[in-house]
Amino acid sequence: MGDRPQGYFTEENSTDVVTSQIADTTEPRLAEVMGAITRHLHAAVKEIEPTQEEWLQAIKFLTKTGHKSDDWRQEFILLSDIMGVSMLVDAINNRKPSGASESTVLGPFHVPDVPQSPMGANICLDGKGHPMLIKGRILDIEGAPIDGCKIDVWQTNDDGFYDVQQKGIQPDFNLRGVFQTGADGVYHFWGAKPRFYPIPDDGPVGQLLGALGRHPFRPAHLHYILEAQGFETLVTHIFDPDDEYIHSDAVFGVKESLLAKFDLIKDPKRIAAEQADGPFYEVIHDFVLADTA
Ligand code: BEZ
Ligand code: FE
Repeated sequence: MGDRPQGYFTEENSTDVVTSQIADTTEPRLAEVMGAITRHLHAAVKEIEPTQEEWLQAIKFLTKTGHKSDDWRQEFILLSDIMGVSMLVDAINNRKPSGASESTVLGPFHVPDVPQSPMGANICLDGKGHPMLIKGRILDIEGAPIDGCKIDVWQTNDDGFYDVQQKGIQPDFNLRGVFQTGADGVYHFWGAKPRFYPIPDDGPVGQLLGALGRHPFRPAHLHYILEAQGFETLVTHIFDPDDEYIHSDAVFGVKESLLAKFDLIKDPKRIAAEQADGPFYEVIHDFVLADTA
């Protein structure tokens, strides 16, 4: 066999022939990644036994996925999301000690550099939807409050849209806020009760979901990024457990520990005490950050 210890390519030895050609790379991590992908991809192809037409259909799907992507729209990430790969990468990279709050996907709708608001501010700039008071504490693993934690929060409006999806309809920075905790670790602000919404489904990933009999919806949630000196940054959400899609999130982002209670407060004394105009939703949720040590 001379220079070809694995022999020429056959159906049986396909994996060995291909991986033998990457053994000499100077990039060991790349060799490891391509080796694993080759082994698993060849195993999948051997299990599936695609026809030439099916293989071409897969190529066309990936081509459409690329064509749908630009600086704003990332169809490949959506594909990763609906296959559970984004959540798996997130889980592998965010193994937390027991007692620390869990992470979930960032999603495409975060906006950097939102101006900081005073604690207690109302981030619902157009006053639409059901008022919602969100409050809790940012704690360390021992239960002590974290001073100076930056809380970056964003959510949809009552119609299930982020401000960036409705430019000219919602005010800029609507339902987005940045807050900083004081020595008591307490945070509180007003928003509007979020609604479930579809992930962008007007492209090949949406068509794939349809063909699989899956819906594109994410249950109502609030996004958080929590950053404090000496602690691991936490990218997470809290979810409405009563949402109709709570058990079938299109991107698998729900975790038991991220379910919060969205209580409707009708008690006139509470309404007066919070200086609300009428009944409001209240969500109380503490977050626990793991330290970096
Ligand atoms: C989001 O929650 O904003 C999101 C996450 C993944 C895909 C699309 C949207
Ligand atoms: Fe979201």
